[in-house]
Amino acid sequence: MYALVTGASSGIGKAIAFALASEGYDILLVARREERLTTIAADLIGDHDIEAIPLSCDLGDPDSIAQLLKQTIPFDIRLVVNNAGFGKIGLFSDIPYEDEKTMIDVNVNALHRLTKHFAKTMDEGIILNVSSMSAFLPTPKMSVYAASKAFVLNFSQAIDHELRQSKPSVRVLSLCPGPVKTEFSDVAGGNNALPAISAEHCAKAAVKGIKKKKALIIPGFLMKLMHILIAITPRRLLLRMSGFFQNKK
Ligand SMILES: NC(=O)c1ccc[n+]([C@@H]2O[C@H](COP(=O)([O-])OP(=O)(O)OC[C@H]3O[C@@H](n4cnc5c(N)ncnc54)[C@H](OP(=O)(O)O)[C@@H]3O)[C@@H](O)[C@H]2O)c1
Repeated sequence: MYALVTGASSGIGKAIAFALASEGYDILLVARREERLTTIAADLIGDHDIEAIPLSCDLGDPDSIAQLLKQTIPFDIRLVVNNAGFGKIGLFSDIPYEDEKTMIDVNVNALHRLTKHFAKTMDEGIILNVSSMSAFLPTPKMSVYAASKAFVLNFSQAIDHELRQSKPSVRVLSLCPGPVKTEFSDVAGGNNALPAISAEHCAKAAVKGIKKKKALIIPGFLMKLMHILIAITPRRLLLRMSGFFQNKK
């Protein structure tokens, strides 16, 4: 029984791959950096009695995704973790269009395509789509990133609702982490404004949520509290608070 994990070469995806391997899943590891995936696959096989296969793919490239989907056909995939993604910190007017286009291609379009494919082809299983706490609020200086994560959350929750009626053996769950210590900040070009949890902590919460089939998984007490506060705060005030914290990054 295989789990396909995108963005498995680093951070949350890598930690989820290890957490799933300890639950007995065989793992298909997807990302661009093949050498890293090969090393991680060897570590997974060494630590656990499972199969682990690196599948190099640029999720920003539709042809590369088509190739990936072909490669997955022989495997009995019961869990898909759409985790690959990245952000960019900066003013909308300063971030180059191409950077944001690639962000939308990876965070939104690739996730949409993989969700469409596996929701159709899986007879039973789970798709875990990695969103973010930033999905819940407009986020100055990360406007496109936060909007991409709002897409992931709303899209995933809507499909999960549909599937509960039309194909209850397949679920689409959403993971909304707050700050996590990974390579994310280096890639985004900034620091976390709030305390960050470890990738392992995030992965443990994700796997617990998968086992319970929780539609919305928010790792950590602080972020669960934030989620409630966000829900009761007027949007204008929320935007000002979000802008304040973003300035600290
Ligand atoms: N860290 C946080 O604070 C945080 C908070 C909320 C949500 N998240 C979300 O969590 C997910 C994982 O991020 P992370 O924090 O673990 O960051 P990370 O350490 O930078 O990992 C990002 C992963 O995405 C992969 N990736 C990026 N572009 C790709 C592409 N074009 N094709 C294939 N794979 C690609 C990277 O692999 P390659 O570079 O090898 O391709 C890497 O494995 C992201 O969706 C992120 O938005 C992170």
